[in-house]
Order: sequence, then C-alpha cells, then structure tokens
Amino acid sequence: MNKYVIALFALLAVTGSAFAADVIDLKRGVKFTHKQHSEVVNDCSKCHAGEPGKIADFGKDWAHKSCKGCHTEQKKGPTSCKGCHNQ
Ligand code: HEC
Ligand code: HEC
Ligand code: HEC
Repeated sequence: MNKYVIALFALLAVTGSAFAADVIDLKRGVKFTHKQHSEVVNDCSKCHAGEPGKIADFGKDWAHKSCKGCHTEQKKGPTSCKGCHNQ
C-alpha cells in the first residue's frame, strides 16, 4: 500500500462516524428505520437541527413529540404504543 491509500483509509475511519446505521435500535424495542425515513422525509433538518448527528435532547419527550407528531400530521406511520414499541 502506498502512502496515499493509507491516508485514504485513515480518512474513512474518521469520517465513517458521520454516517448513521440503516436501522437504529432505540429503547423499549423501537426499531427506527433511519435510512427509509431519510428517503421518505427527504429533509435531514426535519429531525436534525444544524449538523446531522446525535440529537442532543433525544429521548422519550423528543420522540413522542417529534416522531408521533409527524405521523399524526402526515397521517402516515404508527401513532399507537405498539406501532413503535416491541416491548
Ligand atoms: C425522521 C427523523 C430523521 C431524519 C429525517 C434524519 N434523521 Fe438522522 N437520526 C435520527 C434519529 C432519531 C437518530 C438517533 C438519535 C440519537 O441517537 O441521537 C439519528 C441519528 C443520526 C446520526 C448519528 C448516528 C450515530 O449513531 O451516531 C447521523 C450521522 C444522522 N442521523 C444523519 C442524518 C442525515 C445526514 C440525514 C438526512 C439525509 C438524517 N440523519 C435524517 C432521526 C432522523
Ligand atoms: C417528518 C416526519 C416523520 C418523523 C419525524 C418520523 N417519522 Fe416515522 N414515518 C414517517 C412516514 C411518512 C412513515 C410512513 C413511511 C411509508 O409508509 O413509507 C413513517 C413510518 C414509520 C414506521 C413504520 C414503518 C417503518 O419504517 O418501520 C415506524 C416504526 C416509524 N415511522 C417510527 C418513527 C420513529 C421512532 C421516529 C422518531 C425517531 C419517526 N418515525 C419519526 C414520517 C416521520
Ligand atoms: C412514533 C413512535 C412512538 C410511539 C407511538 C410511542 N413511542 Fe414511546 N418512545 C418512542 C421513542 C423513539 C422513544 C425514545 C427511545 C430512546 O430514548 O432510545 C420512546 C420512549 C418511551 C419511553 C421511555 C423509555 C426509556 O427507557 O427511557 C416510554 C416509557 C415510552 N416510550 C412509552 C410509550 C407509551 C406508553 C406509548 C403509547 C401511549 C408510546 N411510548 C408511544 C417512540 C414511540
């Protein structure tokens, strides 16, 4: 491997953390289809204020307001406990 290739791999290792998993496992058995949502919603800023990444105040309150809020508003996606929680 030449120096250029090694530098490229090093760069990928660092920037790789800027990508989210396709499906993110959240508390109480919520399987959040991040990739699918990114495509359907088609606007990162609907969920991420500023630079996309970990959501600072993410948790129950955020989720029940933002996740459920959008599903209610768009009449798409689950709004019942069991629709999101498997446990
Ligand atoms: C429907 C809401 C929603 C949309 C749209 C969305 N995200 Fe996310 N994203 C989330 C949630 C929820 C998390 C996980 C929250 C947490 O752990 O802070 C997350 C996490 C992430 C993470 C951190 C992953 C990790 O494990 O560190 C990145 C990076 C990210 N999103 C990028 C994006 C980008 C880029 C887009 C647009 C193409 C996008 N997101 C669109 C809701 C969304
Ligand atoms: C800005 C709007 C929006 C936000 C915010 C949003 N959703 Fe959704 N969600 C949708 C839409 C639209 C669908 C229907 C997608 C379809 O039918 O293709 C959906 C579908 C779903 C589904 C059923 C289909 C699947 O992908 O499993 C689940 C579960 C779900 N959302 C969970 C969540 C969770 C958890 C959050 C918050 C972390 C969230 N959603 C935030 C718009 C949103
Ligand atoms: C649209 C999806 C959605 C619906 C509907 C929903 N939740 Fe949630 N709920 C979430 C998400 C996402 C979280 C945050 C998970 C995390 O912090 O990892 C959460 C968090 C919670 C928590 C806190 C878990 C913990 O350990 O911190 C409880 C308790 C909870 N929900 C109960 C309920 C009940 C009861 C209902 C029905 C009245 C409900 N949820 C409806 C998505 C949903």
